This record gives sequence, structure tokens and C-alpha cells, in this order.
Amino acid sequence: MGVISSRLYGRRKGRGLHVRKTALMQSFLPQVQITLSGEKGLTAGSLFGTPAPLILEIGFGGGEHLAAQAKRNPEMRFIGCEPFVNGIASLLDHLERDRITNVRVFADDARVMLDALADASVETCFVLFADPWPKKKHRERRFIGPDSLSRLARVLKPKGLLRVASDHPQLIAWTRAQLDGSPAFRCAYADSVPPPDWIPTRYQEKALQAGRVPVFMDYRRVDAF
Ligand SMILES: C[S@@+](CC[C@H](N)C(=O)[O-])C[C@H]1O[C@@H](n2cnc3c(N)ncnc32)[C@H](O)[C@@H]1O
Repeated sequence: MGVISSRLYGRRKGRGLHVRKTALMQSFLPQVQITLSGEKGLTAGSLFGTPAPLILEIGFGGGEHLAAQAKRNPEMRFIGCEPFVNGIASLLDHLERDRITNVRVFADDARVMLDALADASVETCFVLFADPWPKKKHRERRFIGPDSLSRLARVLKPKGLLRVASDHPQLIAWTRAQLDGSPAFRCAYADSVPPPDWIPTRYQEKALQAGRVPVFMDYRRVDAF
């Protein structure tokens, strides 16, 4: 695992924001945003002021899943990583309306956040419906790959959960091959039926409406590798 040499792919901005979301980005985001300048060894305790189980969501999109997880688990602390401004504004809307206080936002490439976290500091990491990058020449843009997996293996606790889902057949095959080939992870669940505690995401709903079948995968970080 080296420095982050490749740039962040995908868009950071979509349609212009409405008044309420613009105001949230200006006034609320600074209250919940994590900004980094080379920090290392961060934990739930150093980020939130009290030790607690730390949960990460990478690419939270509109933030529906992250907000619902945080609301369901008030004793846990959540970090959402997402560079897409419209998605961040949508998450802020959920947090503010539902008075959710256990979420912090990293508005940039999740790999930078991963590198700032302490070893074995994360209980669970969600990577749900990641961008599939279907063209062969773009495969190295897929989030789950050797570099991100060594970062995730470092920050996840032994037996920690990496939960992944996708509706894209090539990405599903790729993700399973990457994870099954990694000595740091073992498969605990893989099915087209979601695990019992599943909370739907926006992309999942879109996939179902379009008749695509998502696959839900739980991988556990092994004790030692
Ligand atoms: C297809 S969307 C899925 C959104 C959401 N998880 C869902 O299921 O509705 C993938 C998201 O991952 C984000 N993303 C891509 N690369 C990322 C990275 N390196 N760090 C954080 N987020 C990333 C994109 O901006 C995009 O919002």
C-alpha cells in the first residue's frame, strides 16, 4: 500500500443545490466535517471525544443508508466518505431533519481517510453499489482492489465486517475475486437475498426498479494474516 497516486474518478458536482441545501453546506457541514492535514492514528475517541464502535461508509451517495444506520445505532460513531457535493448536501439534510449527532463527514477520497485511521480502529465498513467502471481499461478505478483492500485490512478490527453490495455482474465477479484472493478476508455471506439487518440504498432501489438483481456480500477480516 503506497501513497495515493491515482486521482479520484467520478464527479464531484451535479445539479445546483436548492437554498436549504446550500445553507446546510455553508453552516452545518463545518460542524460535522473531518478535515485532514496528514494526521495518523485517528480513532473514534480522538474524532468524537469518546471511545465507541466506529463504522465507516465509503461512497454514501445520498446518505439514506448512513443516516438510517446512525439513527438505528446511536451508541456507535459513523464516518461517511463521499466527494459528491449533492450527496453530501442530501446526507446533511437527513442528519439535520432527524437530529442525528453521531455522524462525521469526510468530503473527499475515502483512501485519505483510511490512511489517517489507526490500525484496527474500525468495526464495520460499508462499500455499497460502488461505481462499476465496466470498461476493461477502467478496471483499476474500481474501489475494491488490492490497494484499498490492504488499507481496509489495516483499519478493520480482527473479525471486523466489510459489507459490499452491487447489481453489476462484472463488478460482483471482480469484487468476489479480489476478496476471495485476499488472505486478510474470508467470506461470511454472499447472496441475492439481503442479510436480515439490511437497510436499502438509493442505488439498490434503482437497480430493483430496472430489474437488476443485487448481490450482498459480507466479508470478515481474519484474526491474523
Ligand atoms: C454508484 S454510487 C452509490 C451510492 C450509494 N452507496 C448507494 O448505494 O446509493 C457510488 C458513490 O461512490 C462515491 N465514490 C467513488 N469513489 C470514491 C472514493 N474514492 N471515496 C469516497 N467515495 C467515492 C461516488 O461519488 C458515488 O457517490
